[in-house]
Amino acid sequence: MVPLTGPNKVKAAVFISGTGSNLKSLIKFSKTKKSPISVSLILTDNSKAKGLDFANINKIKKKTFNFKKKNLAEKRMLIELKKNKIQIICLAGFMKILSKSFIKNFKGKILNIHPSLLPKYKGLNTHQRAIDNKEKHSGCTVHYVTSKLDSGKIILKKKVKISKKDTSKTLAKKILKQEHILYPKALLKVFNL
Ligand code: GAR
Repeated sequence: MVPLTGPNKVKAAVFISGTGSNLKSLIKFSKTKKSPISVSLILTDNSKAKGLDFANINKIKKKTFNFKKKNLAEKRMLIELKKNKIQIICLAGFMKILSKSFIKNFKGKILNIHPSLLPKYKGLNTHQRAIDNKEKHSGCTVHYVTSKLDSGKIILKKKVKISKKDTSKTLAKKILKQEHILYPKALLKVFNL
């Protein structure tokens, strides 16, 4: 990808489904001089996503798409993305699986953050599964999105220690803190910065 900064930042869309703490950290990062991206659009499948508050606070355009009709939702999303000249998509707690045909339109330009050390613990309920398996570490991974769930090329990972006292809730909290650092770092890496 071409490294661009300043007024020529690459327009990014962030997809969320929930709290949006990663969105918050991406917006903060995007406002720094070193960021290669600007967050120009926030898309969600959940009109009640708490993270949409960050769109309002930061005056970023937001749109909700109903995934009950996934094909239609994706078609409409693509129109919105093109209209806003979006060049890169960051999935940040987006809990729907995008179709092959959607991904084809942004080949190599969709990133995701996942709360485990991939390829371990793809899918949901990662923290509890790591604890149940008596793992000593878990962590988070930023990777490219392909049509196979949580399986695209890995960009960066961060290891987090699991302590004996950790519950899935405390572990999620520890890992989330690292996610907020890892996603911006991964973007710098993607842009060779
Ligand atoms: C994050 O932990 C993210 O890694 C995870 O959802 C959380 C969203 O938090 N994503 C997935 O599990 C995707 N498979 P946030 O809404 O506060 O950013």
